[in-house]
Amino acid sequence: MRLVTAIDDVRRAIQAAKSSGATVAFVPTMGALHAGHLSLIERAHAEGSFVVVSIFVNPLQFNDHADLAAYPRDVEADVKMCRTAGVDLVWCPESEMIYPEGFETYVELGPLADVLEGLHRPGHFAGMATVVLKLLNVVAPDVACFGRKDLQQIAIVRRMVRDFNLPVRIIACRTVREEDGLALSSRNTKLSGEARAVATHLFRVIHQAARAIQSGERADEACELAIADLASRPGLDLEYLEVVDRDSLAPITHERLAEAVVVVAAVVGGVRLIDNIDVHAASEDPR
Ligand code: PAJ
Repeated sequence: MRLVTAIDDVRRAIQAAKSSGATVAFVPTMGALHAGHLSLIERAHAEGSFVVVSIFVNPLQFNDHADLAAYPRDVEADVKMCRTAGVDLVWCPESEMIYPEGFETYVELGPLADVLEGLHRPGHFAGMATVVLKLLNVVAPDVACFGRKDLQQIAIVRRMVRDFNLPVRIIACRTVREEDGLALSSRNTKLSGEARAVATHLFRVIHQAARAIQSGERADEACELAIADLASRPGLDLEYLEVVDRDSLAPITHERLAEAVVVVAAVVGGVRLIDNIDVHAASEDPR
């Protein structure tokens, strides 16, 4: 495994791999790697013969300075995990390499970024899309793997790839969860014992709502029940809970349930969590 920092080194290594016939599969991350990231790396191995992971905590996508400062970082452990996972190239750029003096060009997003997370994290998706475009331009992968856990992120990246004619295939990977259903997240390490239990309840409630809708309950009614449950839960501050179309993110009430996803965001014990469950897969074991 090679560990590189400079953009030119990344380009050279990838050029060499491509000229010896490799298919490049890319997993962009912000580090603090966990089993969710590892499942993306595993998928990348299945899709390509040269696996690249980037580790970069992108300041541009944090709308809150305190959140950026508190974001967990452990590059040494991350690099070790990548080595064990058989990654070919790890790229850890410095912030100045991605945003050099004078940087002033940003991706401008459409209505997909105005709903759900976009309402609560202004600027987040423009920052995310800008860095993803830059990372894709440097790595130039054949495929890139993203987690379904960040449903809106994937929808926006897919839209950008189509709109900008980027020659990359975006692969959506299933959410990896703890035994009790909580979606793995780098932020989970910040959950105290009590908050950890409340976070699990968040998952249970959306899972229950998805199951109810799958078995015929109206989506708006299932949402109302779920919202009432979460609103009365101490230690949980609900931001949204909706049923939306997986690609357009438009609200769904009782039609087109094949594409419906229950999405939620809440602050639990000071930690902001997001999750989502596909209605059509709600009766499967979500883990
Ligand atoms: P990060 O939060 O590190 O996530 C990197 C990738 O891992 C994303 O595609 C995310 O959806 C996926 N992921 C996170 N938790 C997961 C889980 N429990 N199961 C499966 N996949 C999971 O998302 C970002 O970084 C950034 O926005 C990035 C795309 C790197 C741009 O800065």
